[in-house]
Amino acid sequence: MGYIGPRSAQDVVIEGLRRLEYRGYDSAGIAVEADGRIEARKKSGKITNLDAEIAANPLPASSHGIGHTRWATHGGPTDQNAHPHVSQSGRVALVHNGIIENFAELRSELEAQGVQFKSETDTEAAAQLLGKLVDDGATITDAIHAVASRLAGAFTLVAIDAQDPDRVVAARRNSPLVVGVGEGEHFLGSDVAAFLEFTRDAVELGQDQVVVITKDSYEVTNFDGTPASDVTPYHVDWDITAAEKGGFDWFMRKEIYEQPQAVADTLLGRYDAEGKLTLDEIRISPEELRRINKIVIVACGTAYHAGLVAKYAIEHWTRIPCEVDIASEFRYRDPIIDPNTLVVTISQSGETADTLMAIRHAREQHAKVIAICNVNGATIPRESDAVIYTHAGPERGVASTKGYLTQVVACYLLGLYLAQVRGMKYGDEIKAITDELQKMPAAIQTMLDNDQQILDLSKDLMDDRSFFFLGRHVGYPSALEGALKLKEIAYKHAEGFPAGELKHGSIALIEQDIPVFVMVPPQGRDQLHDKVVSNIQEVRARGAKTIVLVEEGDDSVNPYADVIIRHPKASTLLQPLLAIVPLQLFACEVATLLGNDVDQPRNLAKSVTVE
Ligand code: G6P
Repeated sequence: MGYIGPRSAQDVVIEGLRRLEYRGYDSAGIAVEADGRIEARKKSGKITNLDAEIAANPLPASSHGIGHTRWATHGGPTDQNAHPHVSQSGRVALVHNGIIENFAELRSELEAQGVQFKSETDTEAAAQLLGKLVDDGATITDAIHAVASRLAGAFTLVAIDAQDPDRVVAARRNSPLVVGVGEGEHFLGSDVAAFLEFTRDAVELGQDQVVVITKDSYEVTNFDGTPASDVTPYHVDWDITAAEKGGFDWFMRKEIYEQPQAVADTLLGRYDAEGKLTLDEIRISPEELRRINKIVIVACGTAYHAGLVAKYAIEHWTRIPCEVDIASEFRYRDPIIDPNTLVVTISQSGETADTLMAIRHAREQHAKVIAICNVNGATIPRESDAVIYTHAGPERGVASTKGYLTQVVACYLLGLYLAQVRGMKYGDEIKAITDELQKMPAAIQTMLDNDQQILDLSKDLMDDRSFFFLGRHVGYPSALEGALKLKEIAYKHAEGFPAGELKHGSIALIEQDIPVFVMVPPQGRDQLHDKVVSNIQEVRARGAKTIVLVEEGDDSVNPYADVIIRHPKASTLLQPLLAIVPLQLFACEVATLLGNDVDQPRNLAKSVTVE
């Protein structure tokens, strides 16, 4: 959030942060300028903690300021790591969203020049670099262009200079930034919710652009300083609640549509220049990783389904036996674990009690524990030996969507990394999958671009009472997750089955017109393709309505499918990243049509902290 104008900067910025708190809420901070000095206040925790800090240490009146609510990526949610970050000389304050991939290199460069860092964040490298440039004589406007050009990764930066009270500067790449245009005042925000109560006139910044706001103007340029050609002002007619949801009716729907970005953020910073994986966060030595002779994945709910998908991939790539346990069952079965066992826990919230108890049990047996988690600094990552954060951003819908997809991706990164460290039986295939993963955000986007078919299908099927989901191999956990989504929010009876197992009992449930979703593996590249096509015929012959998810160009299912949902071609192991998207959307739309509260379904909680 940034502001310049006649109002109290403190009031406008804090109010804006409250509106943006849904985007991140582990820390908050504000900086204003008065009498040529930067004054900053920042606190971990919710904005109320910042309110208390300001009450104890009031800020001077100021006509411009910046603020931030944080969802930690690099560096835990502490006061020191909260934004704004102030440069060493105290002249510049900066806030940042995103992940700066080359921060380590910038940091050592600046440290060699005598800069002392105060936090563990990637952001501070940008703040200190900006400070150094203005200390050396650059204007804040020139300096923000120079900093933006040096950074790799994703970032929105907003900054002020104590010696230049007439402007607030900002830059953006791969993270959103919007300008609010008022009369005699201007605003900056991650989205329009930040300033909607003051103005409804907005300008969205394009990729690799810098904006400088003053009281009376805004000027948009490219990183190289040339004027931007694609600046289009627009008028916002959403109310504040709609704005927080990005114009969607539910957080869940917004989160479904955020998945291309969320997956891109999970991948960000995890590849080196040669396309090999660098998982620096795994602080377990290569020797210890080589000694692992068994992997146990432990999780609950949707995260458990992510683990089931991951098992196929991890075993195949690493040749290490991999079990998947429901966390609430794990320690009570007296599992066989020892110091050479790697326990991988998956939890979006990082607070699920069942999963936490499983970790404590595993560590008592001296197993190594790696957490896959979305909330930086949560209990589960704190109690684990290492953590891979998914970087999906806050998930508000109780039914997990982007949390799930990014968990699968993070598990894959771990599996590929283990294969890389331990030596690979299927080297070429692993290299190909490592590359293909980077194409998944675009492929997921294609699924979302074809959403109309799913919305229409939801209308057709909303009154059906029972649904079945079938798949083999990784299609099976995808079927379980598709069914769970429908149970959670649409309150429908839904079951996922291994397609080949159906004939051993459950096929007795198939009756006339019952909807059956089937995930089909790639044709010609997967030995199970033809078997799944036979399974479709089995249920159709017994009266089922078949909804078939199949890759582009595979027409073998045409005679047996009542509805065909196409997805881009992908390797078998990456198909779950695509196949689940229409199933999430289907559940969300059916629940909406039925009038259910999609974001807060009955009987469920987002984070369950009792066993
Ligand atoms: C709860 C939620 C589920 C979620 C599960 C695991 O039961 O209702 O949607 O999948 O917890 O949550 P976690 O935060 O550990 O991933």
